[in-house]
This record gives sequence, structure tokens and C-alpha cells, in this order.
Amino acid sequence: MKHFLIDTDTASDDAVALLMALREPSVRVEAITVVAGNCPLDIGVRNALISVELAGTYAPPVYAGMPQPLLRELVTSEHVHGKDGLGNMELPSPTSEKQSDHAVDIIIEMARRFPGELEIIALGPLTNLAMAILKEPTLPDLIRRVYIMGGAGLGPGNMTPVAEFNFYVDAEAAHLVIQSKLAKTVIGWDVCMAEAFLNRSDIAHLDSLGALGEFAARTSVSLIEFTKSFGMDGFGPADQTAVAVALYPDIVTKQFDVYGYVEYESEKAYGQFIIDQLQVTGKPHNVTVITEIDAKQFKEKLFQLLS
Ligand code: RIB
Ligand code: CA
Repeated sequence: MKHFLIDTDTASDDAVALLMALREPSVRVEAITVVAGNCPLDIGVRNALISVELAGTYAPPVYAGMPQPLLRELVTSEHVHGKDGLGNMELPSPTSEKQSDHAVDIIIEMARRFPGELEIIALGPLTNLAMAILKEPTLPDLIRRVYIMGGAGLGPGNMTPVAEFNFYVDAEAAHLVIQSKLAKTVIGWDVCMAEAFLNRSDIAHLDSLGALGEFAARTSVSLIEFTKSFGMDGFGPADQTAVAVALYPDIVTKQFDVYGYVEYESEKAYGQFIIDQLQVTGKPHNVTVITEIDAKQFKEKLFQLLS
């Protein structure tokens, strides 16, 4: 049994990603930790609890983490996912409640409970994970691998021409995590907007799958609207892609090990994930970058888990 911890800023794509992980019988989500990002922390916690209840399988404990980036003011994304983070569905409040422990402490506790086995899937800004590394420097030795949805990969940014949202919200935290000794796989915005992109017919198929498929289609309404500004009809399932790579590594068709770093000192390039493809820095590889997945397999898994 694979043991996962999911760190999330729980907006619409995070919510569907949580459904996927909770409905995959071969893995166990040991905990869900929430970080401020798409939504203010309390809304992210609320949406995580709603997602757990919607999944209808088992209920991992949910923990609140960092309410703002390490140094910067919080930038949220109501313009992308709606005021409630879930496409303004105005769902009823969850009946369950978060736990009282802090998410940063839980990341450390779970790593110690499953030494060498715990895999983390990071779907939001990396503030929680950065704080955990600062608090427990041996963390990289305890964690099997971190799958990070972040950075623009080899494509354009979605917040600035060079920066993707998760790394843009807290570039200092992203820098700290990427420079750490953690085993890291990064799934960038480019992959989500390419093979993984869900077009109108994919969304219609989602909608035909029953309650969870309808939720996945409906909660993405604001994201579909936002994506039109890129001249595209549909949406990039960023967090769903990251979870699928973590659950089913065989869907990856192209990846490479490389030296990467996050720009946090320049205002113009703040949050850029810079990939040294030609190894001109001569620095040792510190990350595996995914550049292509099998779209057919990804979509089959997505539809199967939501059926
Ligand atoms: O840039 C896309 C990422 O930012 C996704 O994780 C989305 O949920 C937002 O957090
Ligand atoms: Ca997210």
C-alpha cells in the first residue's frame, strides 16, 4: 500500500484531484494539509472537508497550515476559481471539522510514521512544505518523493509571462523546496495545458458520469471561463494531472532529470521556475521534470475514478 500526504490550496482542480486520490483503492491518503493560495486558508480547509465527504470512501484527517506566504502578501485566485474556490457552487458547509494540529507538524509526523515510504503530492504554494523542511532538516531523508504541481515547465506562465501560480504565490518557499535534498518530480503548467487539456467533449463526458463527474464539470465553470482568456475552450486539469502522475507513473511518456531553480529576487521574473536544460550551470540535477504524459491513459483514469 502506498502512503500519501496531499498538501493543497483546495480550489476546483485540487478538489477533483482529492477525489481521484481518495477513490484509488491501491493508495492510502494518510492526511490532507491545507495551505493558503487559491483561497484564503479557511476556505481551503472548508473545500478540503467538502471534497473528502464527496469522495465517499474514507476520511483522512484535514489540517490547516500556513495562512500566508513566507515573506509576501497572499495572492489568491478568485478570478480563476470563483469566490468559494469551487466555481461559486455555494455548496452546504461540511459536517466534518479540521483537526487541531498544525499542518507543518503533521507533515513531519507523517514522515516519521512512514520513514522512507511517505510520498507527498503538493498542489498549492509550497509554504507548508518549506516550513516543514526548516523545522525538521532531516525531512528529505524520510520522504520517498514529492510530486509538485508547479512552475511553467518549458512553456509560458499563467500569472506572469514566466511564472505559474503556485510558485508565484510563494517563490521563496518554492526556492527552498527545490534546492532541498528532497526527491522531487515537478509537473508544470505546460503539461496540463497540452496533452492533459480537457476540451468541451471531455467535459461533457465528465458530466455524464454521475454525481462526481457532474461535480467535476460544474466546479470547473470559473476555470473554463478564465481559460478563454488564453483563447482555449476547456481547461487545464493541473492538480488532476499531478495526482495522476503520482498514482500512475506509467502515464508519463517524457521526463528528464535536470538542475532547476526558482527566481525569488527579481520582481519581473519573481516565481519563475528556471530549468537548466543544457546544464550550463554545471550544477547537479535536483529535480525530475515531466514534459509529456499519455493523454488517453490520463483521461481514462480520470473518468474511471469519477464514475
Ligand atoms: O497554476 C495552477 C495551479 O495553481 C493549480 O494548482 C491551481 O489549483 C492553483 O493552485
Ligand atoms: Ca492547487
